[in-house]
Amino acid sequence: MKNKLLELLKTSGGYLSGENIGTQLGVSRTAVWKYIKALRNEGYNIEAVTNKGYRLMPNDDVLSSMEVKMGLKTKIIGTQVLYFDTVDSTNNKLRLLALEGVPEGTVVIADEQVGGKGRRGHVWSSPKGTGLWMSVLLKPNITPQEASRITLVAGLSVCQGINALLGINSGIKWPNDIMIDGKKVCGILTEMNAQIDNVEFVVVGMGVNVNTETFPDELREVAVSLRQVTGTKVKRSEVAAVIIRCLEENYKKYTHEGFLAVKADYEKSCITLKREVKVIAKDGFNGKAIAINNDGELIVEKADGERVTVLSGEVSVRGV
Ligand code: BTN
Repeated sequence: MKNKLLELLKTSGGYLSGENIGTQLGVSRTAVWKYIKALRNEGYNIEAVTNKGYRLMPNDDVLSSMEVKMGLKTKIIGTQVLYFDTVDSTNNKLRLLALEGVPEGTVVIADEQVGGKGRRGHVWSSPKGTGLWMSVLLKPNITPQEASRITLVAGLSVCQGINALLGINSGIKWPNDIMIDGKKVCGILTEMNAQIDNVEFVVVGMGVNVNTETFPDELREVAVSLRQVTGTKVKRSEVAAVIIRCLEENYKKYTHEGFLAVKADYEKSCITLKREVKVIAKDGFNGKAIAINNDGELIVEKADGERVTVLSGEVSVRGV
């Protein structure tokens, strides 16, 4: 009923009286008021004016399961979207739910993470109301060695999704940072539960800086938000939905035909290729990123012509 009321308010565009809403939904005015209060509690800004009725104020960035699901017709990813005001980390939350048996495609989103995790043990700053902190549960039939390709598929999906939604030009810094003009707009952390030779489940966590207006000093030079790039407030639920839709398409291709099925799209979006890079490993080296192989690994050519396959790990791109 709450969903129907929301749809009415969205489509009407103007004021709707409590009586009118009640008639359309077949409920009393008291019930209408109860649903209005519930929607307000979820973050919707609904104006109530005497003798006019209720009006949904435009441009609300409400993050909720319902808002995300309204933008979806997917069959696997997002059939269940679970929203939390605050979690330690959406990855942790979803891992626990996966152990309890929630199905593949379950999505966890949160307004705030108080223990957001980045790669290599870093903290991922995840303040309330500013970003999309989202994790997706996948159960691909792969070995643990192949799991990093899921991260590439997720990175591609974020990149394609936000570019299509906002008409921007983000690119992927291999393997999976999404960059705009040299600054990071999204990071991805993939974690898995696995035996030696098969993966039980994978939790793909995506952190997108959406409406951040100013970053703390230590991030200002390296991070950017979609709001800063577009100059307008962006709806996190729409960002979530478009990423989920792209991920479903790419994941289907990947599970049917392997990384090769998405490789060309990945290469098109990858800003690391043809650039001078520094591979930061135990015996780090410089070279030029010349290709991505069929397993999603980066091929780097050293000055002496030797070609090295980089599986994962830190690669810094000069100028990015
Ligand atoms: C990185 O270091 O670039 C990866 C950052 C990943 C952050 C996301 S936010 C949602 C999910 N939950 C987490 O705790 N981390 C990931």
